[in-house]
Amino acid sequence: MNQPVSGFSKKTKAEKIDWLAKNYLQSNSDSVQILKKYWNEDAQLQQLHDDFIENTLSNYYLPFGIAPNFLINGELFALPMVTEESSVVAAASNAAKFWLERGGFKTSVISTEKNGQIHFNFYGDEKSMETFFEVVKPKLRNSIESIEKNMKARGGGLLDLSLVDKSHILEGYFYIHATFETLDAMGANFINSCLEQMAHTFEEEAQNFETFQKKETYPEVVMSILSNYVPECLVRAEVSCKVEELTTKHYEGRQFAEKFVRAIEIAKTESRRAVTHNKGIMNGVDAVVLATGNDFRAVEAGVHAYAARNSYYSSLTHAKIEEGVFTFWIELPLAVGTIGGLTSLHPLTKLAFEILQKPDAKQLMEILAVAGLAQNFAAVRSLVTTGIQKGHMKMHLMNILNQLKATKEEKEKAMDYFKENAVSHSAVVSFLEKLRK
Ligand code: MEV
Repeated sequence: MNQPVSGFSKKTKAEKIDWLAKNYLQSNSDSVQILKKYWNEDAQLQQLHDDFIENTLSNYYLPFGIAPNFLINGELFALPMVTEESSVVAAASNAAKFWLERGGFKTSVISTEKNGQIHFNFYGDEKSMETFFEVVKPKLRNSIESIEKNMKARGGGLLDLSLVDKSHILEGYFYIHATFETLDAMGANFINSCLEQMAHTFEEEAQNFETFQKKETYPEVVMSILSNYVPECLVRAEVSCKVEELTTKHYEGRQFAEKFVRAIEIAKTESRRAVTHNKGIMNGVDAVVLATGNDFRAVEAGVHAYAARNSYYSSLTHAKIEEGVFTFWIELPLAVGTIGGLTSLHPLTKLAFEILQKPDAKQLMEILAVAGLAQNFAAVRSLVTTGIQKGHMKMHLMNILNQLKATKEEKEKAMDYFKENAVSHSAVVSFLEKLRK
């Protein structure tokens, strides 16, 4: 049985790998070689990646691809995408091309407010807390002056503070709701630093507030943290065209539009469908979030909470046909940054921003919403026409061929053959078997 280890983070990388091999790796020499194979030859670059987290042993590659032809508000973009799912970039590119010929994507940022809370216990008289809050509010603001200085100089900072009484739901539970403008930064560090400082001031000032005479009635801060639920940091993206313009050689425009709208209505009504529908949207959003070094867990958490804001989980996209015009749109809460965090550290992230023509945070929000809308369009279009497996398995073909260790020549023959034939694991196996005979 393996034993716990102490002081692990202090060991060198070689010692960590050695420990891992002894304790957890059966085929230790091969496995260690795999870890080493993914080291970067450039020692400085490797060190940069080592320092991102604790106990780095190696690097984990994901493909960094590009989806061109995105016409957004009249300007052409190529979207950098990082994903492991074989059909995502192809689907985004197809949707981009489709809408390129139909006016492209229109976007707008609705709001950019972020928020955080100081959660605290208070078992005294609610009125006295309200009075205290009014007294302490300016002092809370003043206490973050130095933290806020740079952000304020750029036009951002703390916007407002309000007291929220939740004691009717959880005995003694109150919080201070703080709102922020963090401009081009995602703002997590800034918001958390502000909140922790204000929480400290709040507790300190409470001790001098004479109405809270007894120690038992002093408010006690439980925790201070930003919220990843950002429904006041909202962006919208839209495509629209006359239904006849949707006609392609595979389907007739009106019929397609009606079926498409119906599919969206189903995703709005039925949570089981909505979850998969929104997962497809996040295929696009996350890929660009990752490429730009943003926090995809934060984005995911916020987006799904937003999808459930009306007490049931529903579609993030909407569609309608009005007076012969098909309109398809998305509204997403997105707290992302173009400065700070990994954005200026990871060389590929910097490159992603260059590809995107150095957007500010608002423009990045718009691009992300477009990535989500395009991905959803591609998925729903396949679902209501050919089904998704045809395209999906075509893209997955290369993975199967690699799994079966196909040579370059075999791959070429297989790609050719499966242009006309349905892809499945067994079909590829028997194709290769025949070829190899
Ligand atoms: C697969 O990653 C995503 C889809 O399932 C999305 C959808 O069903 O809308 C194709």
